[in-house]
Amino acid sequence: MHISSKITFIFVLIYFSWNFYIQNGFTNKAIVKEELRLLKEMDEAGSRLEKLLKVEKEHMERLSETMNRATRLRITPNSNNPNNWPHPIPVIVFSCNRPDSVRAHVEKLIMYRPSAQQFPITVSQDCDNESVKKEVEKFGNSVNYVKHPPGESVKIEIPTNLQKFKPYYYISRHYKLALNHIFSNSNNYSSVIITEDDLDIAPDFFSYFSNTRYLLEKDPSLWCVTAWNDNGKPENIDLKSNATLYRSDFFAGLGWMMTRKTWEELEPIWPNGFWDDWMREPVQRKQRQCIRPEISRTGMMKYGKEGTSKGQFFSDHLEKIKVNDLPVDFSQINLDYLQKNEFESRLSLDIRNAVPVDIDDITYPDWKPDYEGMKAIIYYTGRTDFVAKADRLSLMHDFKAGVPRTAYNGIVTCFYKGTRIFLVPDRSKVPGYDSSW
Ligand SMILES: *[C@@H]1O[C@H](CO)[C@@H](O)[C@H](O)[C@H]1NC(C)=O
Ligand SMILES: *[C@@H]1O[C@H](CO)[C@@H](O)[C@H](O)[C@H]1NC(C)=O
Ligand SMILES: *[C@@H]1O[C@H](CO)[C@@H](O)[C@H](O)[C@H]1NC(C)=O
Repeated sequence: MHISSKITFIFVLIYFSWNFYIQNGFTNKAIVKEELRLLKEMDEAGSRLEKLLKVEKEHMERLSETMNRATRLRITPNSNNPNNWPHPIPVIVFSCNRPDSVRAHVEKLIMYRPSAQQFPITVSQDCDNESVKKEVEKFGNSVNYVKHPPGESVKIEIPTNLQKFKPYYYISRHYKLALNHIFSNSNNYSSVIITEDDLDIAPDFFSYFSNTRYLLEKDPSLWCVTAWNDNGKPENIDLKSNATLYRSDFFAGLGWMMTRKTWEELEPIWPNGFWDDWMREPVQRKQRQCIRPEISRTGMMKYGKEGTSKGQFFSDHLEKIKVNDLPVDFSQINLDYLQKNEFESRLSLDIRNAVPVDIDDITYPDWKPDYEGMKAIIYYTGRTDFVAKADRLSLMHDFKAGVPRTAYNGIVTCFYKGTRIFLVPDRSKVPGYDSSW
């Protein structure tokens, strides 16, 4: 091809292309503009979607972290241990009108229970609060729900001078209804774990109960296992003794277990009000004891502040109780030492070897034990002396039916400045529990 025809060809090509471009350009301008707008919108939508995905991803990550944590902390029982209770132990959750509290509590129970068959959960509600019911229904068939008519709707005999304590009568009634429901003949449960909707739950809560249950069977001088330590503030416990358990004359409640047999004994005489104080009376207790932990397996959630009896000393005390976060597999530990005679002789030995100390010395800021692992003994000679000394150690100083909280045969033990302390009654002055204290 000659150069001139080449140039002509290129010229013609450019001419037609230009024409084509101009024509389309004019007719499509509006469309292009529209397309650009759409593209921009799509881009924006894209980044919105990306943001949403990011949030979702973070949410999923948090969820799987929680699940991993639960799996890591949840304890699957060692079925080789003959003392790990093989039968189902139902959990009954008492609720009234705190929907958020019920949700948070049941979530934890479900998260930490090793098996739904072994620990069936029933939420029992007496008050008419639809929100509570709705929250429970969200758990689907993971939990059972039972509703009783509210206390206000039935005639309860309340002495005129005690009218202001109405809620305590409603609670007693609710306990009776719910426990009768759990132990009704259609179920053949031999025991029950009782919780309240404002309780926090430790990861090894179920391991604790399923491995102490055999003790209630074996030792008739025990009538309950409680997850709660009344003196369980961080400064009063040995945080390293995460597996240590005790016997106590004091009925603490707040996450506890009893047998069907005990319920069958209490049910016919169950009181109209103040059931927990009633259980602490010598005629009901019959010198029986409870197992309790060094580090609580239950604690108070913030919702507890609104509870019936807890308002006043919630922030001073209840809120500070430490919930165990170093899970113990109790099926790996021999708990026979908690039986009456063995526990008694171990404690006597500890007390014989303990070094007497003066409350003024030990509470002095610079005080240190004489040697590592030293155990100390402080005597008390009466009611006021006990109260004063308990206060100095920041322990609970009250009595129920003459029994100080956590006491075993009058002895209250705690951890203080890295030292095991025994507050021991001077038997020449304090012969035994005195109900007038
Ligand atoms: C349930 O109780 C909560 C807290 O007392 C209250 O805020 C809520 O309105 C109640 N819901 C219903 C449906 O009664
Ligand atoms: C109830 O449970 C016990 C064991 O806890 C068992 O021996 C008994 O056969 C059961 N009874 C019924 C009716 O299921
Ligand atoms: C918690 O208890 C387990 C079992 O007794 C023990 O192995 C572990 O060392 C304890 N943790 C701490 C921090 O003491």
